[in-house]
Amino acid sequence: MPDQPYLFVSQHPAVLHKLAILRDERTDSKKFRELVREISWLLGYEALADTPLNEIEVQTPLEVTSGHQLAERIGLVPILRAGIGMVDAFLELFPESQVWHLGLFRDERTLRPVEYYNKLPDQTTVDTCLILDPMLATGGSATAAIEVLKDWGAEHIKMVNLIAAPEGVAAVHEAHPDVAIYCAALDRQLNDKGYIQPGLGDAGDRQFGTGF
Ligand code: PRP
Ligand code: URA
Repeated sequence: MPDQPYLFVSQHPAVLHKLAILRDERTDSKKFRELVREISWLLGYEALADTPLNEIEVQTPLEVTSGHQLAERIGLVPILRAGIGMVDAFLELFPESQVWHLGLFRDERTLRPVEYYNKLPDQTTVDTCLILDPMLATGGSATAAIEVLKDWGAEHIKMVNLIAAPEGVAAVHEAHPDVAIYCAALDRQLNDKGYIQPGLGDAGDRQFGTGF
């Protein structure tokens, strides 16, 4: 249930069970990727529950009946690299979604986001954007992504994270109170290197086997 209207922390047993395995340092990259996808699917199911629908008529083999179709164009915005692992689950939920990758990495020294990939066209092509990123730490990457999408003209923006830190939630809420955050866990705090505690380590490295 949402702790505040802008923060939804999943309490679903399937999410909580999978999250513990995701955090475990013994979980290898293959299993880690599977879990990122599975938890993303469950979070997506919750994050998209209020998506507006239009009523339509459907001809079954027997008769005409009423049905529904999405009323909005949905844009999935994975933050490279780590957000890539969340995309397929969301495409399973809403296959018609557009996927707009945004490249942002965190400068390890300053912890400030650096943008390196953005192919958004001049005019917005979606109504709702879902920013996909496993980790919301200082909130620097998230607020930068939200600013890019607002400048683009996106009207509704939601964040979907696997793990959020209180510092990141506060930063997003202060800068963008209209953006709701959906996550699987709200962790305790950041350490002095900007890592979420207890967290899961580096989400990109653990997915792609690059943590040396
Ligand atoms: C991680 C993560 C977020 C960011 C969160 O990406 O996936 O994008 O850090 O930190 P913040 O809230 O303090 O900005 P990282 O910069 O490590 O890049 P990567 O996905 O390429 O590994
Ligand atoms: N990025 C990560 O991948 N992990 C953290 O704990 C913080 C930022």
